[in-house]
Amino acid sequence: MTKPVVLVTRKLPDAVEARLSRDYDARLNPTDKLYERDELLERAEGADAIMPCHTEHFDADVFSRLPKSVKIVANFSVGYDHVDTEAAKKAGVVITNTPDVLSDATAEIVMLLMLGAARRASEGEKLVRTATWKDWSPAFMVGTQVTGKTLGIVGLGRVGKVVAKRARGFDMKILYHDAVRQEDEEKAGAVFYEKLEDMLPHCQFLSLNAPNLPSTRDMLNAERIALLPEDAIVVNAARGTLVDEDALIAGLKAGKPAAAGLDVYKNEPGIDPRFRELTNTFLLPHIGSATAETRDAMGFRACDNLDAFFAGKEPGDRVA
Ligand code: 8YV
Repeated sequence: MTKPVVLVTRKLPDAVEARLSRDYDARLNPTDKLYERDELLERAEGADAIMPCHTEHFDADVFSRLPKSVKIVANFSVGYDHVDTEAAKKAGVVITNTPDVLSDATAEIVMLLMLGAARRASEGEKLVRTATWKDWSPAFMVGTQVTGKTLGIVGLGRVGKVVAKRARGFDMKILYHDAVRQEDEEKAGAVFYEKLEDMLPHCQFLSLNAPNLPSTRDMLNAERIALLPEDAIVVNAARGTLVDEDALIAGLKAGKPAAAGLDVYKNEPGIDPRFRELTNTFLLPHIGSATAETRDAMGFRACDNLDAFFAGKEPGDRVA
């Protein structure tokens, strides 16, 4: 029996590629060359499925030109904001993602962002690395303590819940704002705020963990930043689209928020250069899920979705 052809757009972990090559006629990308849209469409010719990352955009134009042979796009990502799901539905293409398996890794990065921003990790590391660390004094590199502070989580979903769990290990008090109430979290002490505006004045730390939706775009804007307490620290490991970056940069320059830890940006990798110039930022290059364990798990989860689809079953992580 001939195996379904799967176009894999990026170099994936060895174990994932081995499984893909065993079970499918896999068109791999060993050099990890980034395919432009025309090349991607050319390579998709005759393929039954595509396994892309968030680096490939599947908008209405792509779906209108996608070879008819392609029946499923099994994303190697939990976020699918790079896919126009309405256009996919119209084109009759199934879309899946990889939830759950990256929640732990991403929550680790949220903790790192909080710690890094609060304890001035960027400034400190620069001093050591550039041999400009000259002395020590009680006032040297004094930051903000994370332990025992109040953390507001915007979006208490899969990642947000792990963040809450890890933050409780730092004796943090958890507040949250979400469209859905989480009874279990409230039993564990989390305090729900129906209105984001009501939660913000209590957030010594604020973590954005919501998906990129029209309703979350620029949700952290100048008006909301103004509602934060003095010395508040903002972190974002979700999507750059959640933040009005002009407002955040203006706020950081004025000292509110006091610091920001960012793993995601509106433009990646070409971030707004003003973030780099600020000393009160701790900046990472979208590595929330970048652990060996999680990368394997994401690939296997995407394979599970393909396997189900080609076995005539409903893929577990179908989002369109
Ligand atoms: C991934 C992510 O690295 O899965 C997501 O939605 O944002 C990242 O953690 C990337 O998207 C993989 O394609």
